[in-house]
Order: sequence, then C-alpha cells, then structure tokens
Amino acid sequence: MEILDGKLVSQAIKDKLKIKLSEPGHQDSRPPHLAAILVGNDGASETYVASKIKNCAEVGFKSSLIRLEADCTEEKLVSEIEKLNKNEDVDGILVQLPLPKHINEEKIINLINPAKDVDGFHPVSTGRMVQGLSTFIPATPYGIMLMLEHYKIDTSGKHAVVIGRSNIVGRPISILLSLNTNPGNCTVTVCHSRTKNLKEICLQADIIVAALGKPGFLTADMVKENSIVIDVGITRVPDSNKKSGFAIKGDVDFSNVAPKCSYITPVPGGVGLMTIAALLMNTYNAYTQRLKINN
Ligand code: GUN
Repeated sequence: MEILDGKLVSQAIKDKLKIKLSEPGHQDSRPPHLAAILVGNDGASETYVASKIKNCAEVGFKSSLIRLEADCTEEKLVSEIEKLNKNEDVDGILVQLPLPKHINEEKIINLINPAKDVDGFHPVSTGRMVQGLSTFIPATPYGIMLMLEHYKIDTSGKHAVVIGRSNIVGRPISILLSLNTNPGNCTVTVCHSRTKNLKEICLQADIIVAALGKPGFLTADMVKENSIVIDVGITRVPDSNKKSGFAIKGDVDFSNVAPKCSYITPVPGGVGLMTIAALLMNTYNAYTQRLKINN
C-alpha cells in the first residue's frame, strides 16, 4: 500500500509555479492575481479562503479578498463581480460557496467572466470540460487528476466508482476519468443517495472516489483488494483534544480500508492540499492567457 501524499505533490506543483514566475517573460510582468469573494463568515469557508490566500502569497501571486456581510444584497455581490470582470489587473475570480440562501448561486456563477473562472464552475467551463477541450477544471477534481498523474497511476480501462454527484467534485471527476486522456480512459460508474447495491458496485471498482461528505462512510467490506481509494471528504467533527475543537474527517474508514489498497489518499494531507495547488494552476493559466505569456 502506498500513500498518495498531497503535501509532497502540492509542494512540487507550487515549486514549479515559483520557478515559472522567475523565468524570462514573467519577470517583467505583474504577478498573477486571484480575487476571492467571501460572503458571510461560515467557519469552514473562512478557513478555506484563508488557506487559498496564504498559498497565493507562498508562490508569489497577488490576492485580494472581498468580504461581504452575510445579509448583503444579491445586487451588491453582482456589482462586485462586474467590477472584477472588468478589472484588467485581476486574472482569476473565486466566489466561495456555499452562498447565503437569499442569493441565487447559479446566477452568480453565470456572471463570472469565463476567462477568469478559475473555479471552473461556469457552464462554459463545464461544457468545454465535457467535450475534452482546454478549460478551467474545478480545483478538487483537477487536483485528483494531478495526483494520479504525479504517481503515474495507470487508470486506462479501470473501473472507477465515484460516490457523489455534486457539481464541485462528483460529476466533474466522473467526466474527467472517462475522457480519452491519461489519466483517464476509465469505465465510470456514478453512485449517489438513490443508488441501490452500493456495496456490490464498490466491490467491482478498481478506483473509488468517495465524495459524499459522510465521515468514515467507505468501510473495508466495500473495497476489493488492491483498489485505489481517493478520499475527498473534509467534514469537521467535534474533537475536544484539538485546539480548534474539531477534527477533519474523510469519507473513508482509513485505518481499515488502507491495508486493502494499492494506493490511498489520507485526510488530512491528501486531496485537500491538491485542491489548492490546482486552483493556483488555474490562476496561473488564466494569467498567462490574459497576458499572452508563453508557459
Ligand atoms: N466550496 C467548496 N469547495 C469549493 C471550491 O472549490 N470553490 C469555491 N469557490 N467554493 C467551494
């Protein structure tokens, strides 16, 4: 069994980005610039946005954080996005989800200029991804693909079972794994809350992507020997031993599942770190396309 080390791989990607920024063509230009909008102060969203900003600084990107009150109007958010769309100094725009209930998430996502859609949530980005065209791929599935690529895992012809069908992870990773690419070329089954015989389906999987947000859901009896298991879960569960008062738990019962796997991602230290690295890659690509820099 080998651990797929998100810390190592994300650091390698960040180091590569740092080197690229020091190369000719980049030196004379402003740095890549990511603008994040955070509405309200949900604890998890605060942590994720803070981490995105810290990582931008680490690789030499500029970042801006626009904070709006939880009860801000939809019009206010729309006007902030319109300003960022027009701002030539901004390469990537990210609106942290979920948004408060009174704001129409779909409308907001549709408003982001697809050329700055570093989250890859705009329907133009999704459509291009489905067709296998170059685009911004949502950060978590993109991070998983970068991880598989780094470890040179042969996915061709394998049966991948994706548990979860969210627009952010489950659906895009199911599409990416099915494309005629490397990694890719999988036979993909998408499972969700209405799936019957989930255990039997998982037992036929060579690769399982657990992205349903239920801590410890995937147990050892659901996994065949030598499987590759990718754990996307990052649920906060109360833990009085932690200073923060909570621990981050994955969707996989790691200690019992890991011994059966050929490869497995840990939580923390797996997919979460790759998500940030993938966002930085998207921001860098948005920047080189905007400034027409060869990358
Ligand atoms: N909320 C959970 N994951 C994500 C993500 O990748 N991007 C944004 N913007 N919000 C999220």
